[in-house]
Parts: sequence; structure tokens; C-alpha cells
Amino acid sequence: MTPTPALIPVRLAQPADLAPIVDIWWQLSIEHEVRDPLYWGLAPERRCREVYRTWKESLFSEEARAIHIHLVAELDGKVVGFVHGQIIERPEIFLVEEMGRVNEVAVHRDYRRRGVGRTMVLALEDELAARGIDHTHLMVDADNPDAEALYHRLGYVTREHHLIKMRR
Ligand SMILES: CC(C)(COP(=O)(O)OP(=O)(O)OC[C@H]1O[C@@H](n2cnc3c(N)ncnc32)[C@H](O)[C@@H]1OP(=O)(O)O)[C@@H](O)C(=O)NCCC(=O)NCCS
Repeated sequence: MTPTPALIPVRLAQPADLAPIVDIWWQLSIEHEVRDPLYWGLAPERRCREVYRTWKESLFSEEARAIHIHLVAELDGKVVGFVHGQIIERPEIFLVEEMGRVNEVAVHRDYRRRGVGRTMVLALEDELAARGIDHTHLMVDADNPDAEALYHRLGYVTREHHLIKMRR
């Protein structure tokens, strides 16, 4: 039976969650590479996994946890998705000096369209709000309609466009 979003448990990630996080991230990365093999083109899988895992480990330190938030969702007794948020300082010229940035949202492909992504992003927004941050932003690939639909559904609107020029 498909669980309702309210029943999808989301919690702060622990170092023991790194293995499923890396696996789910790898799925996401391959899907991006298919869309644009140059811009999203990947180094060999083993190397990517090592580099990504090392980077994530550094973000699980006490100090990094002050600005980096990782949440995981669990279904069927296993981690099926994760979200990575970060607190971003903006220049003092802006009225809003701190924002939350949604760096990564990914759901294992066997568990999509069950409310996992929505539940995790909303949980991240709540976690940011608990730290006094009420505004969030993110980037999404122009050819990723699933993610775009999720964000629009949650009230995100387009503020900027990210342009690229690949000269070969
Ligand atoms: C994008 C992603 C995180 C969505 O996660 P999900 O758990 O499947 O999304 P949810 O079930 O919570 O969907 C919430 C809403 O988003 C929209 N949505 C999500 N996936 C959609 C799809 N494939 N088609 C259309 N709308 C979609 C719908 O409005 C949906 O609400 P509904 O099911 O009531 O119609 C998931 O597809 C994923 O992991 N993709 C690969 C990783 C990725 O590209 N991440 C984004 C990087 S910026």
C-alpha cells in the first residue's frame, strides 16, 4: 500500500546512512548525465563514489552540521531518499541575509511518486525554520521535469536562470 506523506519517517542523517546516500546520489548523477553527457558527464563510477563519500563525510562533522543539514527518509526499514540543505550567508546589502539552499533531493527510483521527495523537502524547510530561516532557494536542471514539478508543487517559483556555454 502506498503510504501517505505524513507516514513517511524523515530524520537527521547519521554517518551510517552514507552508504545508501551514495547509492541514491549515484542514480541521480547517472540520470543527469543521460540528459547532458558533457555538462553532467561523470568520472569513472568508483572515483565518483569515493570523492562524493569523502565530501559527505566532511559535512557530517560537528562544525559542518551548523550549516549543512542532511535528512533521510525511510520506508520498508531502509533509507529510500535524502535531502541536503545548506545555510547560505548573503551580503549585508540584502534585507534577507541568510537563506536555506536545497542542494540535493533524491529518492530511490523504486520509491518515487509516493510523497517521499515532498516530505523530505518540507521537513528540511521545517528544520531551517527551527534555525530561524524562512526562505529557501535551489537550482534544478532545465531538463528535469519531475524535480521541477515537485518544487512548483511546493510553491517554488523561478527567480533566476542559470546559463551555460560549452565551447566544444
Ligand atoms: C524529483 C524527485 C526527488 C521527486 O521525488 P518523489 O518522491 O518522486 O516526489 P513526490 O512523490 O514527493 O511528488 C510530490 C509532487 O511532485 C510532483 N512530481 C514528482 N514527480 C513527478 C513526476 N515524475 N511527474 C510529474 N510530477 C511529479 C507531483 O506534483 C507530486 O505530487 P503528486 O504525486 O500528488 O502529483 C525524484 O523524482 C528523484 O529523486 N529524481 C532524481 C533525482 C533528482 O533529479 N533530484 C532533483 C535534483 S535538483
